[in-house]
This record gives sequence, C-alpha cells and structure tokens, in this order.
Amino acid sequence: MALRGLQQRRSSSHQASARGVQHRPARCVRLHVAAGGKVYIDPVKKECAAFAPATVANLGPGFDWMGCAVQGGGDTVVAKVIPGKPGEVVIEAIQGDGGRLSLDPAKNCIGVAATETLKLIGAVSCGVSLTLHKGLPLGSGMGSSAASAAAAAWAVNGLFGAPVSKDTLILAGLASEAAVSGYHADNVGPSLLGGFVLIRSCKPGQPVELLRLPCPASEQLHFVLVNPCFEAPTAQMRAVLPGEVPMKSMINNSCQGGALVAGILTGDARLIGESLDRDVIIEPVRGPLIPGMMAVKAAAKDAGAYGCTISGAGPTAVAIVDDPAVGQRVAEAMSAAFRSAGKLEVNTAQVVKLDPEGAKFV
Ligand code: HSE
Repeated sequence: MALRGLQQRRSSSHQASARGVQHRPARCVRLHVAAGGKVYIDPVKKECAAFAPATVANLGPGFDWMGCAVQGGGDTVVAKVIPGKPGEVVIEAIQGDGGRLSLDPAKNCIGVAATETLKLIGAVSCGVSLTLHKGLPLGSGMGSSAASAAAAAWAVNGLFGAPVSKDTLILAGLASEAAVSGYHADNVGPSLLGGFVLIRSCKPGQPVELLRLPCPASEQLHFVLVNPCFEAPTAQMRAVLPGEVPMKSMINNSCQGGALVAGILTGDARLIGESLDRDVIIEPVRGPLIPGMMAVKAAAKDAGAYGCTISGAGPTAVAIVDDPAVGQRVAEAMSAAFRSAGKLEVNTAQVVKLDPEGAKFV
C-alpha cells in the first residue's frame, strides 16, 4: 500500500489535515496477554463515532482513477465494544435507509468494512456492534456505500486508539466496495482521506497506490450537485460499460484527464469544469440511462457552469463553478431540466466545497 501526497504547495490550513492523514504519529495500542500466552489488542474506549463525507468520483474522464470528498453530507457510524467476542461484528441498527439495507454484516458495506478493519488491527480481544446513520441517499452517485464503509472503518479503528493509518484502511473500504458495487477506490479513497485522490493503481491482489493531490485556492471551487429521485445502482451502471474503447476516444480522455489533474493542481475551476465535461467514453453510455441527463448538462452550462457530468455512476449530476451565486442559478437550471426533460422530481440540489479532511471522529 503506497500513498504519496503532493503537498508542498498546500495552504497552511490544509497542511494540518494532510499531516493528520499521512504523518499521524503512532498511537499507543493497549494489549493484554491471555492465560494461554496469546496477546490481544484491547479497545481504549467503549464507544466511538465517525463521520465520512460524500464523494464525487470519476469527474468525467477520471473514470475509476479520480475522486474528491465534498462538504454538505455524509454517513455516520457508531461502533461499540462487545466484550468477550473477539472479532465478532454485529449491525445493531440502520437509520435513514427506509429499512432497505441488510443487517447481515457479511452483506452490508459497514459490516464488511468493520470485519476487514478488525483484521488489519490484529488479534482484538472484543467484538463490535455498529449503528449506521445514513445521511446520503442510496444509489445516488455521491459515494453512499463508500461513506458508510469509511465511517465504519474509522469508527472501529477509533475504538482501539486508531492504530491503523487511513491509507491502510483503504483496504478495508475496498473490500467493502467490492462486495456491494465493484473494486474501485475512487469513492472510498477520498471519503477516508479527504480532498482530491488519484488512484494510480488498484487491482485485486496487488498493492494499492494513491496520490493525494493538493488543490490550491480550493475556496474558489464549488460543486453543484443535483440529485434527482431516481436510482442508478453502481453495479448496474458498471455492467453497461464497454470492454474496449476506440483509440481516438482513449486519446481524448487521456488529454482531458491530464487537463483535469492540471486544473486541480493549479486550483483552476474553469479547467477542472471544462475537462470533466469532455468525457467521450463513460458519459455517452450512462447518460441516456438517466432521464434528462443530457438536458441537465446543457442547462448547467447555459446557466454559467464551466462543465457538467454524471457524479459517480449517477443519477446525481455535478457541475463546476467558481462563484456560489452562479452555483445557485446553475442548481436551479439543472433541477428544472431534470423536471422538464427527465420528468424526475429533485431530491436535493446543493452548492458545496471540497472537504479536505475526510473521515473524522464526531
Ligand atoms: N468509478 C465508479 C463508477 C464510481 O463510476 O462506477 C461509482 O460511484
């Protein structure tokens, strides 16, 4: 597992959180030796709650290799110690899902993430029970399952004094994502770490390599997120993608992906927006499956956005602006287009900023 941060040009407020992620000092781990000589890791508290933010992944040509965390919503997990049940994971309750998610830990993203986190910590002396408070709609394209997994991993880790770093916990999040939607780290990476995260390498059974990209002047970068009342399950939206792409599409998306990274590293909202707008591989296949999406994209740009595309696997649409007042107008135009062209009601329409922190204790 390698995580490389390009942090030398970060603002001072971002340096603190980046240091917290990547250079966090080793924590004390509480151990005890059982009668048979086996060494167990004990929890340091009875209960720990963590929040993890929504994410916008892909960002157009960055399919499966670029994502960022955004402010404005996320999921919260409360983990509690179950004494004397080493490694056991129980899901006690889930709120905000309308009763749709399984309480079976093997079938739920928080259960999988918690189980994998306990394995990463080592021989723990207890089990954990979990309560999930869903703040993000299911199948929304805002990294709902990844936020749950990141919050669960960070809360369980917190019970034991946070002995495992966030970059290593990506592995727990990836196992969870693989179980529910597919093996991709572009949501769970930024939900844990915050900011923009480039997934340089992520293949099952191989080391994961992430680059956390600094984005100077991110205060001027605003994401307009409009979530219509429609579900686009990630697994289904991945199933429609082509296995091969034409050379000229590959060249286009490579150019736009490079420009996207340049826009992030220079804090250029216009370049970020224009680049994410120009994906010719993923959006043309998924867009028609989301009612009204192409009209929403056109409406966003007519109203002043630099670009617009599908957030994650959809159905949420994301547009980029550098002024929150323009963002409000863009949000209204996108919402109107979902209603008129897509015949869809709008669940949420918001203008949000980058979240530089990622998962945090609450
Ligand atoms: N990269 C993933 C996809 C993100 O687009 O399928 C899902 O939120």
